[in-house]
Amino acid sequence: MNSNDFTNPFDIQAPTLEGYWLTLCDELTRACDNLDHPWSLPVLATQGFQIPKQRILVLRDFESEPFLLTMYTDRRSGKVAEIEESPQVSWLFYHPHWRVQLGLRGIVRVHRDGNLVDAAWERTRPTSRVPYRSPISPGAVLDTPDENISTPNEEQGRRNFCVLITEIHFVEVFLLRLQGNLRAIWESHGGPFQGTWRQP
Ligand SMILES: Cc1cc2nc3c(=O)[nH]c(=O)nc-3n(C[C@H](O)[C@H](O)[C@H](O)COP(=O)(O)O)c2cc1C
Repeated sequence: MNSNDFTNPFDIQAPTLEGYWLTLCDELTRACDNLDHPWSLPVLATQGFQIPKQRILVLRDFESEPFLLTMYTDRRSGKVAEIEESPQVSWLFYHPHWRVQLGLRGIVRVHRDGNLVDAAWERTRPTSRVPYRSPISPGAVLDTPDENISTPNEEQGRRNFCVLITEIHFVEVFLLRLQGNLRAIWESHGGPFQGTWRQP
């Protein structure tokens, strides 16, 4: 199925928790690195130093058991400092055609070194590497909008690159529809996820 289709895999007759779980895992798999899928661009909310902070990141990889989300970022960015202070985060995904909101909560770890990070760096496109090679940190004040020049130093780029992996323990789906909204929650307390329907 093309993810931009208006055929909504959540809007089905007699939905079950098991069916919804499989559908959301399928859609997260399809969304990885696929910018045509609205779930490829979720919002990450961190507990900022004074106020909650949100920003969009590209979903790079997904695993269902354990339930892991992988994203890439610059280790110099503000979100990394926030995560190190408080690794409890939430993710929000929205599909505007299906009107399905997916909320995930979990603990994120910053991976800076090792085979996993090297392999991820190798997978990045040359254009995606440009900001990582910049000597100027994300968020720094610029005199002109395009001052953010990149150096050819590939090794510097790799050092600024890191991988964020979130282990999810809470999953919530909310489907907005005319014939009645639906809401389901799954939680894991170290073991398998247990799902329940909830009053929308
Ligand atoms: C469509 C879109 C995709 C983005 N993808 C990423 C990404 O994959 N990784 C990333 O670090 N920032 C990404 N950004 C930029 C972030 O949203 C954010 O502005 C930036 O990382 C700085 O965040 P921070 O200051 O909270 O650390 C993206 C922005 C947009 C608009």
